[in-house]
Amino acid sequence: MQSEEHPPLRDRIPGVRRLTRLPAQLLRKNPFEGDIIPARVPLFAPGSKRPTLPFPHPWNYWKPIRILETYFWEAERDEGPARHNRFLDVPGFPPVLVTRDPGVIRAISTATGAKPGQFDRDTLPSSGIARATGEDSLLYANGESWKRQKKLATPAFARTTLFQPEQFREFADTFRNTAVQRLEVLDRLIDQPGETHRISLEPEIKAVMLEMLVNNFFGASISYEEIRDRYVPGLDYVIEHIVRDTVVNKVGCPLHRMPNFTKGIAKAKSASDVFEELTDLAIEGRTEGRGLWAQFRSDAPDDALRSNIRVFLAGALEATTSYASWAIAHLARRPDMQERVYKEVCDVEDYTPEALAELICLGHVLDETLRLTPSLYFHPRRATVDTWIETTAGKRMRIPAKTHILMDVWHANRHDDHWGVDVTGYPALDFAPERWERIAEQNHEGLDLLHFGFGHGPRFCPGKSLGQMEVALVVGAFVKLFRFEAANDENLERAGVSTKPLDGVMLDVTRR
Ligand code: HEM
Repeated sequence: MQSEEHPPLRDRIPGVRRLTRLPAQLLRKNPFEGDIIPARVPLFAPGSKRPTLPFPHPWNYWKPIRILETYFWEAERDEGPARHNRFLDVPGFPPVLVTRDPGVIRAISTATGAKPGQFDRDTLPSSGIARATGEDSLLYANGESWKRQKKLATPAFARTTLFQPEQFREFADTFRNTAVQRLEVLDRLIDQPGETHRISLEPEIKAVMLEMLVNNFFGASISYEEIRDRYVPGLDYVIEHIVRDTVVNKVGCPLHRMPNFTKGIAKAKSASDVFEELTDLAIEGRTEGRGLWAQFRSDAPDDALRSNIRVFLAGALEATTSYASWAIAHLARRPDMQERVYKEVCDVEDYTPEALAELICLGHVLDETLRLTPSLYFHPRRATVDTWIETTAGKRMRIPAKTHILMDVWHANRHDDHWGVDVTGYPALDFAPERWERIAEQNHEGLDLLHFGFGHGPRFCPGKSLGQMEVALVVGAFVKLFRFEAANDENLERAGVSTKPLDGVMLDVTRR
């Protein structure tokens, strides 16, 4: 990456860059330079039949994947870089670059960080998250503030901490007990082995995930009933509000200052109170050093940690629920793969890192799940200055300062150019854990085939080890107890903060 470390004067005076760019915008000059030139997407395209407009507004914001799709409408006709890189450039506004090109995604992710001239995480698509959790968090902050948050919060989640033998055993035991106990409740619904029951699994997965996080990880002791009936619905509503708030609340008014104009606002306020209560309960264990707090070495006051705790609670719940829901939804449509995973896990009681590493087929199922249906479907970035990026193939692109960048991981991972038969042996749109066996056999450089499921570069997910352990335990425990078949043939998605199966993981379940 090359960038101007000290931004020119026009970027330091608000509004000047916008004015200097206007003539070129009116002349429809492509603002990108180099070997990778993205193609322009029109703001309006009457008669084109594209899915929606290329920006979120109050009538399309709940279909974000259709918005991304709009950028690549008829892109298959293009050859070269324009096929996977598109932009919108509306006079008076900064350009928007949408990329489903893994080389470009990797280069931009690597060049994101706190050093002068590096890309920021774009805060625009997460303004609703910041209003609900606070701006001073690892997820939302940029620059020095992000660096401070990272230093403070990530050591507790690091693989080296979590996978210390004693620490790991304690978490793995409590996590496993939680998962098995909760899934056995489902078991009781089914009177006889061989009897089939139809259930929507997502609410159960969510409750187990939240229980693991608040009770096992943060050392609280909240009853399962309260978690399922009070805190999960409260958090669900906060998350639903976040998505709406990001698009609709253009004035940036915090929720607690909003008058109760509508029932929705009143409901969001009461959900936000429930969220605060849960945050208090998660922090409470700190003084006694319960759960993760035993590992946490910092003299930062509790208040300085609140935003991050809120992000961990809401974000981790979303991401782990999405990941486990998708894995089970995919296995429900592949009974052969379900049996292979069962053979691996049926005798496993011990979830040490070594035991987890032996579960090769489960590992491939989880990798394939994150590839085909990534929980976080796009990663937002912002160019702080005019920046040259370079891919590992040596291709370069100059991205103008202030450009909003959407790294469209969902469509990158689903394109045959990157993951199809020629590259991995299986069509990109198929759920085929076998592709990972083939990739391993071909001894592909892991780095060539990145699915970005946990991100890449300095803003990589700090919760990866914890999240993977939770998801492997829940999926493993479920396969061990039940045989299950999808109630619907198609496995469609809905997307908000994260993606999830549209039907809430509707399954026909039989006890083994
Ligand atoms: C297992 C499911 C999870 C998935 C699939 C996931 C995915 C991701 C991804 C893709 C990113 C990078 C986003 C970007 O580059 O813009 C990310 C960042 C992040 N994740 Fe996760 N995550 C998971 C679990 C967790 C957990 C359990 C926690 C915490 C308890 C967590 C906390 C975070 C935070 C704080 C960031 C922002 C890091 C930064 O900007 O420096 N995640 N996650």
